[in-house]
Amino acid sequence: MNFLSLEEVDSTNLYAKKHLAELDDCTVVTASRQTAGRGRLNRSWLDLGEGNLFVSIVLKPSAAFNKNFVNLTQFLSVCICKTLEDYELKPDIKWPNDVNISGKKIAGILSETVMQGANFKGIVLGFGINILAGKEDVKKVADKAVTSLSIETDGKFCDKNDFLTKLLNLFFKNYNKFIEEGFCFIKHDYLSRLNFLGKEISVKLPDEIKCGIAESIDNDGALHLKKDNEIFVLTIGDIL
Ligand code: BTN
Repeated sequence: MNFLSLEEVDSTNLYAKKHLAELDDCTVVTASRQTAGRGRLNRSWLDLGEGNLFVSIVLKPSAAFNKNFVNLTQFLSVCICKTLEDYELKPDIKWPNDVNISGKKIAGILSETVMQGANFKGIVLGFGINILAGKEDVKKVADKAVTSLSIETDGKFCDKNDFLTKLLNLFFKNYNKFIEEGFCFIKHDYLSRLNFLGKEISVKLPDEIKCGIAESIDNDGALHLKKDNEIFVLTIGDIL
């Protein structure tokens, strides 16, 4: 694992994609400040201050694109949950990969595949985790309820480097096995951290909102949504 610590960037994901050719496999790019953080589905990720984590892991596997890379964000969401559990918190995963605590978002993940023409060049696995953000800081996120490690532990834990070290150790310890075995390797750990299965939910898709009962998650990590006896298999989206 290599580290590249930057002071200020637009986005660690953009930086890693732009410099992919010069960065080794398993380089971890971090920034103290992010001026244009990007989220899934064209959203943005707000910088809530220097004590929070803005990280992109550069992965440049020698093999061709493997379908298991699609589930990397779900693997990382499980690793983030396990790390938070080390602090005696009870996070859950909002499909596909948001990490929440009591309905408030603490971490988000954005994976981007880099191609050159038809050639697979690598993956930039970005994540933001709120660590030191205080109660006033999280109010800056207008569109959803947000929390941080510091808020959830009443200020007891707020060291972003400790958190990142624990998380990266867990991630890289299991990464190769995950790439070999895919979603089934984490399925049990993933399912045990979901709290919406069996419930009526609404999922925002790129061009519509679909409502139904969240039936199950299949062996590819896709969400099966049941509506009027029809099953919709969703691979992207956002539970509202
Ligand atoms: C989401 O929840 O929509 C995903 C948010 C991902 C944010 C992180 S912060 C570090 C990395 N750089 C970015 O621009 N985005 C990711």
